[in-house]
Amino acid sequence: MLAIQPAPNSVVAASPLVSVNNVQKTYFTRQAPVQAVASASVNIARGEFVSLLGPSGCGKSTLLMMMAGLERPTGGSILLGGSEIKEPRRDIGIIFQDATLLPWKSAIENVLFPVRILKLPIEPYRRRARELLALVGLSDFENKKPAQLSGGMRQRVAICRALIHDPDILLMDEPFSALDAITRDQMNVALSEILETYKKTVIFVTHSIREAAFLSDRVVVMGGRPSTIMLDMKMPFERPRRFEIEETSEFAGVCRQLRLTIEGAHGGQASQPPAARGGVIE
Ligand SMILES: Nc1ncnc2c1ncn2[C@@H]1O[C@H](COP(=O)(O)OP(=O)(O)OP(=O)(O)O)[C@@H](O)[C@H]1O
Ligand SMILES: [Mg+2]
Repeated sequence: MLAIQPAPNSVVAASPLVSVNNVQKTYFTRQAPVQAVASASVNIARGEFVSLLGPSGCGKSTLLMMMAGLERPTGGSILLGGSEIKEPRRDIGIIFQDATLLPWKSAIENVLFPVRILKLPIEPYRRRARELLALVGLSDFENKKPAQLSGGMRQRVAICRALIHDPDILLMDEPFSALDAITRDQMNVALSEILETYKKTVIFVTHSIREAAFLSDRVVVMGGRPSTIMLDMKMPFERPRRFEIEETSEFAGVCRQLRLTIEGAHGGQASQPPAARGGVIE
């Protein structure tokens, strides 16, 4: 069964679940080395939702890949529950920008794919897969192939697939960026509802200031050359959150502070268009 974890009482718990300690990453390519992350330190408590925001190329995906154990830092360390993350682990689920479903398998078989890879018993997980698909409104689509689903539906299947084996941590790299604005808003609400039911620790990469502010307990802004952490800001909004909070002056003020930090990180002015801010949008 699902382990529903208690929400943390405070944003920074006594011992963090994930601890990123002065992490550095340089890619050694055939050309010059690329310093993707100069230094990053951040602690994430169990149950927290933390977004990484920042201009294109500032190392957000690199940091996420290191947290997933898919890339190794060239300096510093990333600890999960006190032990170093050195390779992909069962207790970490990951969702990429493109849903990358297997096109020849139905929605439910895609959700069950990690269960087959991990050689877990299928039948109890089939019940769980149905429960997850129902939660994201896809009960009637479990036997459809990805080509018969919309982009938003495919991304919802990918979320179910990442949750099927009940990982503690969910890493999400721009999961909704290919979706239209209305579907994206709906996905944000769906994700919030999923997390109310199955409490997880989430690290979420986005280019959208509004999305980060709406979803997160904390927003971490990366940037600068070479790239580092510019701001680590607690979101002051109560949960559960409704879209109406986006109409408040408090929300506008938070978004403004995030935008100014990103523009500073990108060496720009407040009036810069999104392209000049490295693709970061309101
Ligand atoms: N496998 C790789 N080999 C060499 N350089 C890489 C590799 N992956 C990323 N980089 C470089 O590292 C830097 C950071 O890239 P990364 O993809 O982490 O940025 P990002 O913040 O996720 O950007 P975006 O918002 O565009 O997705 C960039 O300069 C990029 O070109
Ligand atoms: Mg990226």
